[in-house]
Amino acid sequence: MFLFSEKVDLFMDKLTLLYSRQAIAERVRALAEAINSDYADKELVLVGILRGTFVFLADLIRLIKVPVTVDFIGVSSYGLGTESSQQIALTKDVQIPVTGKHVLVVEDILDTGLTVDFVLRSLRQRQPASLRVCALIDKKERRLIDVPVDYVGFDLKSGFVAGYGIDCAERYRSLPDIYLVESVER
Ligand code: IMP
Ligand code: MG
Repeated sequence: MFLFSEKVDLFMDKLTLLYSRQAIAERVRALAEAINSDYADKELVLVGILRGTFVFLADLIRLIKVPVTVDFIGVSSYGLGTESSQQIALTKDVQIPVTGKHVLVVEDILDTGLTVDFVLRSLRQRQPASLRVCALIDKKERRLIDVPVDYVGFDLKSGFVAGYGIDCAERYRSLPDIYLVESVER
């Protein structure tokens, strides 16, 4: 298998290593330290946006030292391609009541901002005690709508990425590192 080399070619895409598992682990640790210090005397509800956050959230939560619960929210924003869809719909709501709770929304990639904006508006209606955002990757130059982001793992100017739970047309979620994905002509 070529999965762990610097360049891998699967499914006719060219994958180039962008963030190694070591670099990711270092950033996740730094995010957890900031979160632990900011929520030192509080209880935290982590709300992961499905499905791209499941690996990131699993790593992050194991470094959280304050009392923490976890839930997931589902939104449909991308189809099977790489173009952002402007249509966002709730596909799965949180089950934990968030009213009066300190809620931290966990997102894999902040791109146009439409997804997180939608999630924040939905959660804000339930009047949490506080509502913040943690994104593993922030593509802030691509923002179409301003969203507050409190914790960022990596800033990315351009490119489409996959791996570490993040998909490209549902593929590559199982890769332990994060790659830049380019489609290759057949
Ligand atoms: P936004 O609504 O445009 O901010 O899009 C956010 C969603 O698009 C994220 O939850 C990701 O799932 C997806 N997305 C944005 N950029 C990428 C990428 O480079 N790779 C994979 N998914 C992405
Ligand atoms: Mg997503």
